[in-house]
Amino acid sequence: MSVYPADSETMTEMKPVTEVTAVKAPVLPDAQTVTDVKHWTDSLFSFKVSRPASLRFRSGEFVMIGLLGDNGKPLLRAYSIASPSWDEELEFYSIKVQDGPLTSKLQHIKPGDQIILRPKPVGTLVHDALLPGKRLWFFATGTGFAPFASLLREPQTYEDYDEVIITHTCREVGELEYGRQLIESIRQDEMLAELMGEGFADKIRYYPTTTREESPKMGRITELLKDGTVFADLGIEGGIKPETDRAMVCGSLAFNLDIKKILEEFDLREGANSEPKEFVIEKAFVG
Ligand SMILES: Cc1cc2nc3c(=O)[nH]c(=O)nc-3n(C[C@H](O)[C@H](O)[C@H](O)COP(=O)(O)OP(=O)(O)OC[C@H]3O[C@@H](n4cnc5c(N)ncnc54)[C@H](O)[C@@H]3O)c2cc1C
Ligand SMILES: NC(=O)c1ccc[n+]([C@@H]2O[C@H](COP(=O)([O-])OP(=O)(O)OC[C@H]3O[C@@H](n4cnc5c(N)ncnc54)[C@H](OP(=O)(O)O)[C@@H]3O)[C@@H](O)[C@H]2O)c1
Repeated sequence: MSVYPADSETMTEMKPVTEVTAVKAPVLPDAQTVTDVKHWTDSLFSFKVSRPASLRFRSGEFVMIGLLGDNGKPLLRAYSIASPSWDEELEFYSIKVQDGPLTSKLQHIKPGDQIILRPKPVGTLVHDALLPGKRLWFFATGTGFAPFASLLREPQTYEDYDEVIITHTCREVGELEYGRQLIESIRQDEMLAELMGEGFADKIRYYPTTTREESPKMGRITELLKDGTVFADLGIEGGIKPETDRAMVCGSLAFNLDIKKILEEFDLREGANSEPKEFVIEKAFVG
């Protein structure tokens, strides 16, 4: 790339590069470098970026990330951080919306590219927003798995609970693969076992379901909860109990509303950072 300004005046008159004449490559505000990209399906990919030294977050929180738009202004969207709070890099798990302003472009990032990351983490899917309990449920659909990819690698999850049940409902089998491989890798990771204590992964119970493609467990998790299938499959007597069970929910608005109703029928109450209770909810996307 030329170090000379490309306007008509300077094109004809070649000046030596000095501090005044040199044109700096455009630098993104809050830029982070992409280190890894993996495509899972036509509509899903995950990627890692460098972590700003100043960024502190709680596992389960989200940040605003994006690219420069065609108008030169940052085009930002909310993204759950899929990596745990102790990790050196940041991982994200993303949809590809073909006509989406951000993801139509973001899906083409490659290692070495830069993205914008505003280092202001927020969110309700955090341990602080739940009262102490014994069994923790993570209910996810689609990319709603992302915050739980973080929390499943968070030591506090296993310090605080005897059992961690992660349900993930997608349309097709391929859409479960990111989560399935992540849980498999957690079970085999010796460094995590050292960090969290030998046998921690035995607390994880993974319950994937599909709604449109044949798989060992078919159906919306909401229906499987209502008819008792989940409890029968997992050997849980008496269903969800407010004394022992805590839940975090992340999916579409419709999904979140349906799960909320079910949890409230089990006498669980929705909590927040400022007022911890028995369950918390966050949207996986708007619309
Ligand atoms: C708190 C929060 C956390 C989020 N975390 C993530 C995340 O970790 N990963 C992620 O991929 N997205 C996440 N999103 C959604 C994200 O902010 C963007 O909407 C998404 O990246 C698409 O951006 P876009 O500009 O391409 O399209 P947009 O204009 O933002 O969306 C266009 C349409 O695509 C659909 N859509 C958008 N996002 C999704 C999705 N994730 N799954 C299914 N359909 C979707 C909706 O119908 C939406 O109306 C989150 C949203 C919120 C509010
Ligand atoms: N993923 C795809 O293959 C695909 C393809 C084309 C377009 N899109 C568009 O992309 C957007 C998001 O698609 P998505 O599949 O990622 O997310 P989604 O529509 O929220 O569905 C994800 C999973 O959650 C289930 N679900 C949805 N609402 C629910 C509820 N109220 N209660 C319980 N379970 C519920 C779905 O089951 P059901 O199958 O029963 O709805 C599906 O298994 C949508 O606007 C969709 O039209 C997606």
